[in-house]
Amino acid sequence: MTVPTIGIHDIAMATGRYVMDLAELARHSGVDVNKYYIGLGQVAQTVPAFDEDIVTLAATAAQQIVARHGVDGIRTVLLATETGIDQSKSAAIYVQDLLGLPAACRAVELKQACYGGASALQLAAGIVARDPEQRVLVIASDIAKYDIDSGGEATQGAAAVAMLVSADPDIAVLEETAGLYTANIQDFWRPNYRSTPLVDGKLSIGAYLEAVEHAWKDYEARGGRGVGEFAGFCYHQPFIKMAYKAHTRLLEMKGIEPTTARVHSDLAPTTIYNRVIGNSYTASLFVGLLSLLDHSDDLDGRPVALLSYGSGSVAELFSVTLAPGYRRHLRTAENQAAISRREPISYEKYRSLRELTLPEDGSEVVLAAEGHNPFRLRGIAEHSRIYQAVHAY
Ligand code: HMG
Repeated sequence: MTVPTIGIHDIAMATGRYVMDLAELARHSGVDVNKYYIGLGQVAQTVPAFDEDIVTLAATAAQQIVARHGVDGIRTVLLATETGIDQSKSAAIYVQDLLGLPAACRAVELKQACYGGASALQLAAGIVARDPEQRVLVIASDIAKYDIDSGGEATQGAAAVAMLVSADPDIAVLEETAGLYTANIQDFWRPNYRSTPLVDGKLSIGAYLEAVEHAWKDYEARGGRGVGEFAGFCYHQPFIKMAYKAHTRLLEMKGIEPTTARVHSDLAPTTIYNRVIGNSYTASLFVGLLSLLDHSDDLDGRPVALLSYGSGSVAELFSVTLAPGYRRHLRTAENQAAISRREPISYEKYRSLRELTLPEDGSEVVLAAEGHNPFRLRGIAEHSRIYQAVHAY
């Protein structure tokens, strides 16, 4: 029996309603804007409308896939997030319902900080390996929020990426070798009683770099490719400069001089979207992959390395090979439109959005329609979130 290739058959993204240029944040904080633009490599961040959450972003991304490929064979929906909306019920169930996916389906939420999306992809590949007739909908969806006036505030953002994992994929074949690293560390975490994370920024940067080394060493020990074989390198991008630091560390480890030109040419196409979206936690790595695919034209049959890091921490280095003709299946115009149609807002508007909170005492609320995506949170009734399909994508 021939073993089919398994990987990403389709991939789509969504982001939120508003965008705040970091010059607005600098105006408020009195910080030189170049700290954000150059020091962090971030220019802007998505700010969601009050009626947007991880479910509406996830459904907006995944709807594009369902519109193209239908729902046949989808028996699993894996939704990775660290912006959970419920302590018990999976956000994937809301997406399954909003998209009219089959009831004969497992709908599950996965969590390990920003690493959850990569883990969902690997679990999906396992399901398809067991039964190549099945397709798995993998969604990474997050809204990154830090305390007001904290160092992390400049690295906020929001996005969702949905992927259809199948046999004989049109876009990217997932390669089998992966390098893994887990370390119990308190660099970034969010206890149940908090809506924003606790973070030790400097520790988290060091932990990420350490994890790159260990994951790469494990990948090599398992017979992975050499650095020189890869046509691209996608890193988890909490802020763009972090990917530059990580790639520099990798090149140094391999005895390759990390010249500015080398690091820039290896990474630049992967950073175009995240530079203006900000950190989207689980989705960030895949937004980076989309940025690479939408801004390169020579990757047919070539391997790309992906490094996922989730604080706490788990890291994985894995790779995909682009399928011949993958460019025909991309949604470059839609991805760019999702970014460019965001409405620019001032710091004051951002701050007023941050001050809005959903009731926490069980009272009911109906939200004004604000977001421009096809799905919205309509309100809360009887302790339940009520979602609404507004229009087709
Ligand atoms: P900070 O203390 O505000 O900034 O925190 P800083 O003083 O370290 O400055 C940042 C950079 O700007 C420095 O560059 C400065 O030199 C430079 P570096 O030395 O690092 O190359 N700079 C300037 N450059 C040009 N012109 C200027 C100027 N001023 C300063 N005028 C920090 C920064 C990232 C720590 C903060 O934003 C933070 O805590 N962010 C959140 C945590 C984070 O993103 N950690 C990344 C690794 S952990 C991770 O990726 C996981 C995560 O996504 C969560 C998850 O897994 O779920 C976060």
